[in-house]
Amino acid sequence: MSIKNLGIILHGATGRITSTQHLRNALIPIIEEGGLNINNSTVMPKILLVGRNEKRLQEIAKTNNNLKWTTNIDSALTDDSYSIFFDGAATGQRFNTLINAINSGKHIYTEKPVASKVSDGLKLLNQAEAANIKHGAVEDKLYLPGFIKLANLIETGFIGRICSFRLEFGWWVFDGKSTPSQRPSWNYRKSTGGGILSDMHPHWRYVIENILGPIRNITSSTSTSQPERIDENGKQFLVDVEDSSTTLVELENGAHGSILSSWATRVRRDDLVTFQVDGTKASAVAGLRRCWVQSEQETPKVTGFDLGRNANKGKDGLDYLQDWKEISDTSPYINPYRVGWEGFISNVVADVPFKSDLREGIRDLQLAEASFKSAKEHIWVPLTKI
Ligand SMILES: NC(=O)c1ccc[n+]([C@@H]2O[C@H](COP(=O)([O-])OP(=O)(O)OC[C@H]3O[C@@H](n4cnc5c(N)ncnc54)[C@H](O)[C@@H]3O)[C@@H](O)[C@H]2O)c1
Repeated sequence: MSIKNLGIILHGATGRITSTQHLRNALIPIIEEGGLNINNSTVMPKILLVGRNEKRLQEIAKTNNNLKWTTNIDSALTDDSYSIFFDGAATGQRFNTLINAINSGKHIYTEKPVASKVSDGLKLLNQAEAANIKHGAVEDKLYLPGFIKLANLIETGFIGRICSFRLEFGWWVFDGKSTPSQRPSWNYRKSTGGGILSDMHPHWRYVIENILGPIRNITSSTSTSQPERIDENGKQFLVDVEDSSTTLVELENGAHGSILSSWATRVRRDDLVTFQVDGTKASAVAGLRRCWVQSEQETPKVTGFDLGRNANKGKDGLDYLQDWKEISDTSPYINPYRVGWEGFISNVVADVPFKSDLREGIRDLQLAEASFKSAKEHIWVPLTKI
């Protein structure tokens, strides 16, 4: 079988998400397993790491089979042996970086959000279409095993008509005063593309619309729970973005739901993200890898509060969690970022349709932008077609 090298520039290679998920958990395993078999040829990713910190680049290159690296993005963009440009750097620079990559004739694959505003996203799309290049946006949560199980239950009609949903995400992110923060400080500054809406709502758009159907209207409320933080250099700064949000959602099919995203909450749920869908025939709750279901037949007949009994786990008490059954795994786990890369590479090399294109990425951004507008103006905002 012939082997075709496929040059991929990874921009933001020293960052958390690019160095771990995209490189270590997705592209390196593809390379180590001998490349991707597409249309009877083997496609072998050939990677160039691009970043700003030489020492970190050297370290990452060394731990990943001595990959090539550079701090010079312009020289990478003019190198014809790389046809794909991936942007996983901090969000604030994304629009300009991607415009330059498109103008250099590269196919572009990007982390979310695809730009800082929808109008910029549309400019990117116009430019990408005019340049006739392939484009894709990372939508990794589509491939979470828990969410795949939930989607199957809905697709097969097991849940019945969807009545409502509840998506809850988040954990406590330390402000750096007594305990170092576990998120980079750029996430808490407007100028660098920070804020939980721009970080998390792009994910929730594609998750909700792919699993439940189109969103019609939303309204959001946001807050900044921790207004002062300490950055990577030990300097205190004022947070000028939201770190917590609640959004109400109306779907076109008549169901409604809520999204809670917060970096200022403490976890007491099944997982760091949980997605509960209540339907006429059953309810299901998905976490990252697991999914639980309660059918109509298994639904306990609750008649009201009974304070005489211990409603928490206990010998004589009720345990509502026991009335749920776990859905077992039916296929082996594949890293969700790897699924995305395999799809995008197949699209570039063999024109295999790839659902997560730039238009989808812009729609993801649209939910963040609508939520921001709603919170600011205290109004419901329709999610019009793009
Ligand atoms: N798909 C997901 O689940 C997911 C999860 C986390 C982050 N992300 C996205 O990935 C991107 C990076 O997030 P992260 O958590 O890895 O952040 P990070 O801070 O760990 O990494 C950011 C990278 O960008 C580089 N960078 C920062 N400012 C830059 C600038 N001005 N010019 C060029 N490079 C710059 C940094 O050197 C670093 O390599 C963001 O767009 C974020 O929204 C996606």
